[in-house]
Amino acid sequence: MSKRELLDAIAAGVIVCRKCELWKTRKNAVPGEGSPNSQIMFIGEAPGYWEDIQGRPFVGAAGKFLDTLLSEIGFSRQTVFIGNILKCRPPKNREPLPDEIQKCTPYLNSQIQIIQPKIIVTLGNYSTAYIFSKATLPFNGITQAHGKFYKASILDMRVTMFPTFHPAASLYSARYKEQLIRDFRTLQHELKEKGLI
Ligand code: URA
Ligand code: SF4
Repeated sequence: MSKRELLDAIAAGVIVCRKCELWKTRKNAVPGEGSPNSQIMFIGEAPGYWEDIQGRPFVGAAGKFLDTLLSEIGFSRQTVFIGNILKCRPPKNREPLPDEIQKCTPYLNSQIQIIQPKIIVTLGNYSTAYIFSKATLPFNGITQAHGKFYKASILDMRVTMFPTFHPAASLYSARYKEQLIRDFRTLQHELKEKGLI
């Protein structure tokens, strides 16, 4: 099977999944989307209101800002892969529960193993905490960890991780917005060095 077919098979499983309680309140599951051959993956937290309605990741206000950040470093949505820790929206956008993360992340793990990205950009605390735990790296919050590259093994692969703030943070704080822009410039620099853009 091609990478595309493998990712489609994961998405088909997500759409009918009932492993945690979130299936009861979702309108649509959001498996994630993008290029199966992307060298870079962006991982958010969980679908919000618009993502739940459309079944697509990052299509609300935070998503618009992510699109801007991506285009500023020479990427479009179609050239990268964008996914989330949780594939279904928690009611009222509450934070993910440990049980939900445990039950849902096998899907994300499979997506990472199929795509085999060189760089994983984690957006916000939850995705960074999860990926760092997979890499057995200590995590003391996104404020400390963001804007730096971490080389590690996760899921039997060597990857470079780059944590930054969640784009939703930029909607209520100009400081986070500036830091995100700065972090994406740092990322762009590294991607150029590596010949990935
Ligand atoms: N926030 C996320 O973490 N993921 C989305 O898909 C949308 C908003
Ligand atoms: Fe399944 Fe994940 Fe949705 Fe829970 S959040 S029902 S584990 S796809």
